[in-house]
Amino acid sequence: MREIGAEQLDINAFESIGRQWMLVGVSKEGESNVMTASWGGLGVMWNKNVAFVFVRPQRYTKEFIDGSDFLSLSFFDGKYDKMLAYMGKTSGRDEDKISKCGLTLIEERAPVFEQADITLICKKLYSQTLVKDGFFDISFVQKYYPDADFHQMYVAEIEKILIK
Ligand SMILES: Cc1cc2nc3c(=O)[nH]c(=O)nc-3n(C[C@H](O)[C@H](O)[C@H](O)COP(=O)(O)O)c2cc1C
Repeated sequence: MREIGAEQLDINAFESIGRQWMLVGVSKEGESNVMTASWGGLGVMWNKNVAFVFVRPQRYTKEFIDGSDFLSLSFFDGKYDKMLAYMGKTSGRDEDKISKCGLTLIEERAPVFEQADITLICKKLYSQTLVKDGFFDISFVQKYYPDADFHQMYVAEIEKILIK
């Protein structure tokens, strides 16, 4: 695994996040949890390279994110599709997802997996809950938030990029 600069990062966010999915990982007090995410983005804010992630309040991962300064975004080869599907339907409250999937965890400020092709280590900069009044099209609220479980948005600075 080696570190690269942001200018060398070869990710199409629409493809890598939206279609292939990523793992959002967090370590807190010696424990780690991950969940699959297909919503979010990469960009620039406050003159920093950042990632945006959106996490519903009921996710166990949210408790980890709120209790840590760092999170990681991990991108995997297609052969890990089953693992990503499992990480996206099972909660870390119920199972030790990381060991069940046989992922090798390398301790960092946030989880780094030996199996991941690309890992972004990010430091939280900003967080806010989406609100109903923010939507210009109310049908989004009806469609995505019938239970009013609005996502928590996190903006995090990409501090380190590791590739396999
Ligand atoms: C393809 C896919 C994408 C997902 N994207 C998100 C997301 O962007 N935000 C979110 O809060 N949950 C998302 N989820 C749901 C969580 O991954 C899922 O609820 C997971 O079991 C939460 O685990 P946890 O309770 O251990 O945090 C997604 C699930 C799948 C299968």
